[in-house]
Amino acid sequence: MSTKLAVIIISLLVKLAISGDTSFIYNGFQSANLALDGIAEITSNGLLELTNGTKQQKGHAFYPNPVVFKTSSNSNFSSFSTSFVFAIRSEYPTLSGHGIAFVITPTRGLPFSLPSQYLGLFNETNNGNDTNRVFAVELDTIMSSEFGDINDNHAGIDINGLKSVKSEPAGYYSDGGFQNLSLISGYEMKVWVEYDGTKKQIDVTLAPINVEKPETPLLSLTRDLSPYLNSTMYVGFSSSTGSVLTSHYILGWSFRVNGKEQELVISKLPKLPRLGEKEEPKIFTIGLPMISVSLFFLVILTVLHVMKRKKKFAELVEDWELDYGPHRFKYKDLYFSTKGFREKELLGTGGFGRVYKGIMPISKLEVAVKRVSHESRQGMKEFVAEIVSIGRLRHRNLVPLLGYCRRKGELLLVYDYMPNGSLDKYLYNNPRVTLSWNQRFRIIKGVASALFYLHEEWDQVVIHRDIKASNVLLDAELNGRLGDFGLARLYDHGTDPQTTHVVGTLGYLAPEHTRTGRATTSSDVYAFGAFLLEVACGRRPIEQGENGGEILVDFVYCCWKRGDILEAKDVNLGADYRADEVELVLKLGLFCSHSDPVIRPKMRQVLHYLQRDMPMPDLSLLCLSSSGLTFGHREELDDFVPMSYPSTERDFSHASSVAESLLSGGR
Ligand SMILES: *[C@@H]1O[C@H](CO)[C@@H](O)[C@H](O)[C@H]1NC(C)=O
Ligand SMILES: *[C@@H]1O[C@H](CO)[C@@H](O)[C@H](O)[C@H]1NC(C)=O
Ligand SMILES: *[C@@H]1O[C@H](CO)[C@@H](O)[C@H](O)[C@H]1NC(C)=O
Ligand SMILES: *[C@@H]1O[C@H](CO)[C@@H](O)[C@H](O)[C@H]1NC(C)=O
Ligand SMILES: *[C@@H]1O[C@H](CO)[C@@H](O)[C@H](O)[C@H]1NC(C)=O
Ligand SMILES: *[C@@H]1O[C@H](CO)[C@@H](O)[C@H](O)[C@H]1NC(C)=O
Repeated sequence: MSTKLAVIIISLLVKLAISGDTSFIYNGFQSANLALDGIAEITSNGLLELTNGTKQQKGHAFYPNPVVFKTSSNSNFSSFSTSFVFAIRSEYPTLSGHGIAFVITPTRGLPFSLPSQYLGLFNETNNGNDTNRVFAVELDTIMSSEFGDINDNHAGIDINGLKSVKSEPAGYYSDGGFQNLSLISGYEMKVWVEYDGTKKQIDVTLAPINVEKPETPLLSLTRDLSPYLNSTMYVGFSSSTGSVLTSHYILGWSFRVNGKEQELVISKLPKLPRLGEKEEPKIFTIGLPMISVSLFFLVILTVLHVMKRKKKFAELVEDWELDYGPHRFKYKDLYFSTKGFREKELLGTGGFGRVYKGIMPISKLEVAVKRVSHESRQGMKEFVAEIVSIGRLRHRNLVPLLGYCRRKGELLLVYDYMPNGSLDKYLYNNPRVTLSWNQRFRIIKGVASALFYLHEEWDQVVIHRDIKASNVLLDAELNGRLGDFGLARLYDHGTDPQTTHVVGTLGYLAPEHTRTGRATTSSDVYAFGAFLLEVACGRRPIEQGENGGEILVDFVYCCWKRGDILEAKDVNLGADYRADEVELVLKLGLFCSHSDPVIRPKMRQVLHYLQRDMPMPDLSLLCLSSSGLTFGHREELDDFVPMSYPSTERDFSHASSVAESLLSGGR
């Protein structure tokens, strides 16, 4: 009898606990038992550190218990209110990644989510799907055009996907009007998220920590959450990093269902690490006279040393560059990061110079530093402006450009380090590791979407000018990332306008490009065509054969003409490939290599063909002919100024000898 009673009482208590309106407050997380995953940690002083300065990672923190938002599955979603204080600290003052989101999720954790632009919330396949049942308020610090972001500093309301239902630039309304806020400033800011279950209204308000809650919210959206979310949900935070070391902190958090959350006590919140933290030098005690004598010599030595160093690390900085502060790296840092540009750190000799691996001194960021020798200062201003603008390009299939440094006769470009090197190493010269068809097809689609982004999705049209397998780098997950964009332009700016110097690489140059010297999106498409064939066939566009240069596009064309285009495919693929996909890529390669730039597809179409949501036109109707495919007729070759920058020295002699043999042998 008494046990029965106990059971009843316990089950009653449990029910009460579950249906009771959840309310909690953390003024610091010292003794909080939040459920953490990814790289999230709680520091010894009680800061919730969602990310800690590791690249391409995510961090989650959830209130450990489920929160009941509906009493039954068809009742209304309850009102709730929450506020939290956050801060974002990045290694660079104007670059960061990727932001923080307050989330309400059906499960405690988001195990399948991706870092970077996915904010640790979704992945490529489930983004935007209503079965996610996820609500989020994002504080996003990177503009991802694929999700329609308005800028790189905004707050947005997300329901089941990263394309915000509503978003506004970060800021708040005060008596003096709208005040901008920079999310990545490193300062503490407070966020309020409120949902009124009767009015079906979501309000998001943002303010600096020392400012009272503004009356007008930054974001206000009328939307009934009931159909989107489940009865029992988990609440927490998600954050992710991309290519820039960034720490995302939450200092305090208060939450309540059906009522106003308790006010956070600012004075009780933990302190952020001091900016530019440095160890105090230890003072040691030695006799005073001793010190003064050694001091004298020390001063002399130091002066000599400083003078020598100054020369060693001298840079060129002009007035116009001061605006680019954060994108400029110190030569000294680059020098030390690459151990003095040591031969051992050499990653390769790329298109325009030598590339070294480096580890930045303080941040430990892994970078690739490209040294481009450049005597001409003409056009440098425009070029650097372009580099800085390119540095703002963000796409998962582009190698992020972090910044630059300039010295006399030398330009240094700093890129994110790509651990798996360039794609060409996996394709020809008896590669040690070859890629499966699936991997290749994914890389092709990635590069196509990056090129589409450059041509059509970014504010300005960016022409790459040097697409080829050796400019496609593979990141840790073997995603293809296009590198070296815009570099060819440096040589365009710098050259004498009287002579048309064509920059690019032989075999990838469109005929009209060699003729007019003008690079266009169609000449990029031409090079992309050569790249497609290269990846599918595992051969260079121009291969030194038994009897002179063998041109890949001609070979594929002949196979197609014979009715067996698949014969052209890479023998290393073995039997593990999808014939329809290989055929599509080969045919698309021919299509993009069409001699008439007007007939070549646009990258938008190329993407549709690759994704199979549009059939490719019949090749036989496109008036392809062998001579029309190759990169030029004899006469054009005569005018051709071979200013190509192939990937290695060996290549250079190789390519020019091919050009010669073509000239002498004719076709
Ligand atoms: C960041 O977190 C990761 C994973 O917990 C850890 O391995 C790494 O040492 C941390 N880094 C710093 C700088 O605390
Ligand atoms: C959330 O609700 C949907 C629809 O009722 C259901 O299919 C799903 O399993 C629920 N998710 C969880 C984690 O309970
Ligand atoms: C994306 O997430 C879903 C769960 O929401 C998971 O089932 C799926 O496997 C994930 N896809 C990838 C490519 O990771
Ligand atoms: C949404 O996800 C479900 C289950 O993961 C899947 O069956 C469905 O096809 C997806 N819908 C869309 C539009 O992708
Ligand atoms: C606030 O930011 C916007 C761009 O987001 C800018 O146009 C505006 O000039 C800024 N206002 C102030 C006062 O800085
Ligand atoms: C849900 O809310 C609406 C108005 O806010 C109200 O009319 C309706 O009765 C509520 N439904 C339930 C099941 O409580």
